Amino acid sequence: MGIKTRSLDLADRENLLAGLDGASVAFLAIAGRGAEDGRLQGLLETLGVPYTGSGVLASAVGMNKLHSKALAAAAGVRAPRGVEIAPTATADEHAVGIEQLLGLPVIVKPVNEGGSIGLQVATTMESLTTAITEHGDGGLMAEVFHPGRSVSVGVLEDPLGAIHVLPPLEAQTPNGLYSYAAKRGTAACDYHCPARVSTETLEDLRRQAAAAHCALGCYSYSRHDFIVTEAGEVLWLEVNTLPGLSRGGNLARMALADGISYEQLVTHIVRGANIDRRART
Ligand SMILES: Nc1ncnc2c1ncn2[C@@H]1O[C@H](COP(=O)(O)OP(=O)(O)O)[C@@H](O)[C@H]1O
Ligand SMILES: [Mg+2]
Repeated sequence: MGIKTRSLDLADRENLLAGLDGASVAFLAIAGRGAEDGRLQGLLETLGVPYTGSGVLASAVGMNKLHSKALAAAAGVRAPRGVEIAPTATADEHAVGIEQLLGLPVIVKPVNEGGSIGLQVATTMESLTTAITEHGDGGLMAEVFHPGRSVSVGVLEDPLGAIHVLPPLEAQTPNGLYSYAAKRGTAACDYHCPARVSTETLEDLRRQAAAAHCALGCYSYSRHDFIVTEAGEVLWLEVNTLPGLSRGGNLARMALADGISYEQLVTHIVRGANIDRRART
């Protein structure tokens, strides 16, 4: 494309500002807190530097699994029932409340994390109390644990707002959990694209991914994680507003299965940065 690039590190504050000076586009190949949660997007808006991906609001809401589920649910997207574990009660008290409300097993996970960090499945009151106790500071939630297939769905949106949903990708692991190690390639994981579910379920996944993308106000591209239960129910878990963009990554895998090359995918993302998204946030 004939684009001149330079890499900037968010942790290197001084060089970050100098490096952004005069940049025509900030290509956000970064994830997690401080980068995927609207803070970086806010900085770039303030500096007037166009950037790739979703704007401030969708990034902030998308990073919070409880708020994003509430918004997506309002648009008819189905998600596992879950509750926040606020630091206002003891782990024992929480465990009793969660068991009454959701039953067991549940999955305990951070509200604002990614990469399957800090996920624990609790099948007994004892393991539930331990999971809550072991978790450090920061928001925590519990959700009904639904055994099933872990499926991810990529959504591409062009600058005029036309939505294109990529073929759903299934990550198959021995215990069904798409864990940190499986994501990093250090535990067994087989990928299937399209996911090994019925045509109707594939359609349901695509419809719900598009609905969540729009309900959350995402822009340009997003990746949605689902569980397809043993009964074939499609349950939305979360959005990734800055999903991994490596050549062998999940989004690139789905794009390729749809006949979209890695170069075309990256070009789509770069072109999206030209839109003024301020009106949306
Ligand atoms: N409620 C659930 N029931 C069954 N499996 C789940 C549930 N929530 C998460 N998982 C498993 O954990 C993985 C990571 O969960 P996710 O909510 O996407 O968080 P993260 O932001 O860490 O990726 C999912 O891909 C799935 O394999
Ligand atoms: Mg996920």
